[in-house]
Amino acid sequence: MPGDTRSEDSRNICHPCILWIKLILSASIPLLITIFTVVTYIQQKDISEQNRQQDLQIASLTREKDIDLAKKQREEDQRLANELHYQNVFQNYIDDITNVLYKHQPNEAMFITEEKRLFYIGRKTIVASRQLNGDHRKQLLKFLLETQLVPNSKTPNITSSLNGADFSNVHYSCFPDDDFANLEINGVYLINSSFRNCFFYSTKFNYSSMNNISFIDSEFRADPNSKGYFLFSGVALNYSNFHNIAMYEVRIVDSKLFHSNFDYARLYDLEFVNTKLAYSNFQNTILRKIHFISTDLSCSNFSSTNMNNVNFTSNMDDMMFGSATSLVNSDFSRCHLANIRIENTNLTGSNLNIDHDENISLSQVVLPNGTWMINSSNLVEDGNGEINCLSSNKPYSVWENSFAGSGEIILALNNEITSDVTSVFNLGKCHFTSGQPQYNSAIVQTISFYKYSLFIDSGEAQFNVSAYFGGRNECKNGSIQIDAGLDEDSWPDHLLSNPCI
Ligand SMILES: *[C@@H]1O[C@H](CO)[C@@H](O)[C@H](O)[C@H]1NC(C)=O
Ligand SMILES: *[C@@H]1O[C@H](CO)[C@@H](O)[C@H](O)[C@H]1NC(C)=O
Ligand SMILES: *[C@@H]1O[C@H](CO)[C@@H](O)[C@H](O)[C@H]1NC(C)=O
Ligand SMILES: *[C@@H]1O[C@H](CO)[C@@H](O)[C@H](O)[C@H]1NC(C)=O
Ligand SMILES: *[C@@H]1O[C@H](CO)[C@@H](O)[C@H](O)[C@H]1NC(C)=O
Ligand SMILES: *[C@@H]1O[C@H](CO)[C@@H](O)[C@H](O)[C@H]1NC(C)=O
Ligand SMILES: *[C@@H]1O[C@H](CO)[C@@H](O)[C@H](O)[C@H]1NC(C)=O
Ligand SMILES: *[C@@H]1O[C@H](CO)[C@@H](O)[C@H](O)[C@H]1NC(C)=O
Ligand SMILES: *[C@@H]1O[C@H](CO)[C@@H](O)[C@H](O)[C@H]1NC(C)=O
Ligand SMILES: *[C@@H]1O[C@H](CO)[C@@H](O)[C@H](O)[C@H]1NC(C)=O
Ligand SMILES: *[C@@H]1O[C@H](CO)[C@@H](O)[C@H](O)[C@H]1NC(C)=O
Ligand SMILES: *[C@@H]1O[C@H](CO)[C@@H](O)[C@H](O)[C@H]1NC(C)=O
Repeated sequence: MPGDTRSEDSRNICHPCILWIKLILSASIPLLITIFTVVTYIQQKDISEQNRQQDLQIASLTREKDIDLAKKQREEDQRLANELHYQNVFQNYIDDITNVLYKHQPNEAMFITEEKRLFYIGRKTIVASRQLNGDHRKQLLKFLLETQLVPNSKTPNITSSLNGADFSNVHYSCFPDDDFANLEINGVYLINSSFRNCFFYSTKFNYSSMNNISFIDSEFRADPNSKGYFLFSGVALNYSNFHNIAMYEVRIVDSKLFHSNFDYARLYDLEFVNTKLAYSNFQNTILRKIHFISTDLSCSNFSSTNMNNVNFTSNMDDMMFGSATSLVNSDFSRCHLANIRIENTNLTGSNLNIDHDENISLSQVVLPNGTWMINSSNLVEDGNGEINCLSSNKPYSVWENSFAGSGEIILALNNEITSDVTSVFNLGKCHFTSGQPQYNSAIVQTISFYKYSLFIDSGEAQFNVSAYFGGRNECKNGSIQIDAGLDEDSWPDHLLSNPCI
């Protein structure tokens, strides 16, 4: 029977099955114990390793602490030694200078002249300033201010040059009695220094090295007699901080102010000439009556500024050839603008909204989208001889005499008026004339291309010279000549010369 065999089979199979399990069970006891021992051993080993590590750590910590302490001690010793050195230098300096300043000198210690005495003070000051740290330099500066040894435009006789003195890392916080009025800070190092809440009244900084200086909350102002004087001239002021300052009626020339900060500043009646202000920050600044001349303002941030009467131009008055003003990639977002004049300036990439025409006047500029806006009307003015011909008023003349005393420029009536306007001999009703025939006189018009310097400097500008000139008896004793030169003083090249039209 298959059923029986099956149950028998299963019985047969089942039996050794239980047995086998039993065997396993009994065998597993020592196995378990072994495992347990191993685990406890491992745990013990772990604990002792931990203890060892801790001991090591403690040992190394102690050693580190010792090293640290020793290092700190050494540093402290060094600091004290330095401090002592600085104090010695400072004390010797003060003793020496007060002697020279206030005490009667024995004959052999007298200075030959007053000038030599001041020279001595100046040299001593420069050498001492270079051996001191920021704190002692500050004391030195205070001493110099109190004894009025800093060059001062009001007392030019009693000061000596501090050219080369080092006042870097000096941190000065001014009280109302601190006086920088009329000082002339020439050729001095003021790197990383700060003058907080100070008042600079007619103070001049000339050829000083002042990168990363901070003037937070300070005020700069010209006295009524020196409005428009040069506050900074030839000064290195990269990364300088003018946060929340006020500045009135001064000029900043030939100075480098890359990455400067003027946020929340109030700027009134200033001129920036040939100055580098790229990457500067003018956020929330108030600008009134400001003239940026040949100034690099690329990548500067004017967002949220308030500007009224601000001009961006290049210097045309004295024909000085600097580079054109740049506002490339400048940020004018959320600006309040009124009376803005922008000339000869590159605005490529700026977000200035030039469609607000009533508040911004533009001429000879590269627009934010890169297109040129050039006034290409005639540069040569003809003087309107024909229009003014018969009026009795002396004509406004765009022409000048080239030789003094050669006679007034007048409009002369042409006798031989021809009615044939197409004739080449038609000279019109009037002509300009000047001087007497016996003199080699000429009438001249000088035209400046300076307002196009942005385009000329970039090498992209082209100009065509063409003119129709007519005159009487040109072939006998007249000529017409067009010259071009870099400026009024340089000798021009003849572009066109026409001895006989
Ligand atoms: C300054 O020096 C000039 C000449 O060197 C002299 O005439 C003048 O009186 C001096 N002024 C003072 C205040 O010493
Ligand atoms: C100015 O500060 C910077 C950064 O702290 C430092 O590297 C540099 O040496 C300092 N310059 C001077 C002249 O002390
Ligand atoms: C600027 O000067 C300050 C101290 O006034 C210093 O902490 C900072 O590191 C300096 N920065 C640079 C770029 O020199
Ligand atoms: C600045 O200093 C230079 C050289 O020391 C001097 O030639 C120049 O006249 C000074 N400029 C001003 C505005 O004081
Ligand atoms: C000021 O920064 C500009 C641009 O980073 C650099 O070319 C120039 O050499 C710096 N001038 C000084 C005096 O550090
Ligand atoms: C800006 O230009 C206008 C127009 O030429 C002039 O009236 C104004 O005085 C100038 N302002 C400044 C600050 O240069
Ligand atoms: C100018 O400043 C504003 C406000 O902080 C900022 O959102 C913007 O990105 C800045 N512009 C540039 C060109 O860095
Ligand atoms: C132009 O300036 C005036 C006066 O500041 C201001 O009221 C007006 O909104 C400005 N116009 C534009 C288009 O910005
Ligand atoms: C450039 O911008 C000006 C003024 O917004 C606009 O009149 C002119 O069409 C623009 N040119 C191009 C090529 O987009
Ligand atoms: C273009 O220049 C001429 C002559 O210099 C001037 O009379 C005219 O007003 C200028 N036009 C514009 C739109 O600026
Ligand atoms: C204006 O600035 C842009 C970006 O720097 C430059 O590519 C372009 O040549 C400049 N244009 C002129 C006329 O200088
Ligand atoms: C100037 O003359 C050249 C050559 O005759 C011509 O190609 C060019 O278009 C002219 N430019 C102007 C602005 O008239």
